[in-house]
Amino acid sequence: MAKWSYHQAVGSKGFDKESFNAIIDRYPDIDIDYTSHELGPRSATMANGYDAICAFVNANIGAKTLTVLAKNNVKIVLMRCAGYNNVDTEAAKKLGIIVKIVPGYSPEAVAELAMGLALAANRRICKTYNRVRDNNFDIDGLCGVNLFQKTAGIIGTGKIGAAMCRICAGFGMKVIAYDMYKNPALEQFVEYVSLDELLSRSDLISLHCPLTEENYHMINMDAINKMHDDVILVNTSRGALINTSDLIKGIKMGKFQGVGLDVYEEEDRDIYYDHSSSLLPNPSASRLMDYPNVVMTAHQGFYTKEALYAIAETTLRNAQDAMNGIQNENN
Ligand code: NAI
Repeated sequence: MAKWSYHQAVGSKGFDKESFNAIIDRYPDIDIDYTSHELGPRSATMANGYDAICAFVNANIGAKTLTVLAKNNVKIVLMRCAGYNNVDTEAAKKLGIIVKIVPGYSPEAVAELAMGLALAANRRICKTYNRVRDNNFDIDGLCGVNLFQKTAGIIGTGKIGAAMCRICAGFGMKVIAYDMYKNPALEQFVEYVSLDELLSRSDLISLHCPLTEENYHMINMDAINKMHDDVILVNTSRGALINTSDLIKGIKMGKFQGVGLDVYEEEDRDIYYDHSSSLLPNPSASRLMDYPNVVMTAHQGFYTKEALYAIAETTLRNAQDAMNGIQNENN
């Protein structure tokens, strides 16, 4: 019986086991061992004896880790997520390791959180929640702006960006977008514009493109200066699309009505750990949380029941196809 390791960067979570175990009977050739070790160059030796390793967004799957995996005869890396910016795919290719991802498991899961963050930041929902719990019904300082008839600028109109376009249109917003490729499904209601035009016209800007070498820090001081005042900025894609120091400068300048972040730079040392009794390893998260118009979540756009089961299903299919030498659309 083929065996693959379920090697998670931040400890096997109950929700992962639950969704994979719910359907594992349909894949009798696959054995899963759940471990709590982080995946990196040192822990990769523990994959010895497994055909495949399954990892998540915050695993370190650079050349060093891949070399150790290859030495231990691991042939397949199964990402149980859509993004793969943490995988050195060139190194994997050279080492003969197959990398598979789970694209588009539930675009709406992420897009709905993006709109949730926009609303929470704009309408100060988290601040109000805390005030009301403290019997403080004073609404001073919590004023928001309407989204109706405003302009939503969507950067990246693949699966998640398209879902966000539909949500924004549902709110009665004018939707403009920037992408190198136009999504034909959106042509009835989305106007494609240049990045500069999007930055200057949008009242809500939401990032939905993958992180690449080219767009690293695409939201920097130059981009922020092109935005108009009182803009709402949301990032559910990858933290390094935004230059954090520049974002903080922009927040201090009063540029933003609200900022909603599900992802942020250097989040790998924070997310999925409980740091409530200690200092945060990543200082930029604490700095961002100082501001009343910033709302942050814990890289949980993917975290809905529907998405978890879709991830488990596709990951197991990816594992089976890879073991049987079948190329599928997720390589
Ligand atoms: P997708 O591949 O369907 O769409 C990405 C789109 O971005 C494509 O249309 C592509 O042409 C466009 N694009 C690429 N580079 C661009 C650039 N520099 N400027 C503008 N557009 C650009 O990907 P999908 O499924 O929509 O996911 C998007 C991203 O969302 C993922 O790469 C991942 O980083 C993030 N994500 C976050 C999750 C979370 O839990 N917060 C969960 C899943 C994905």
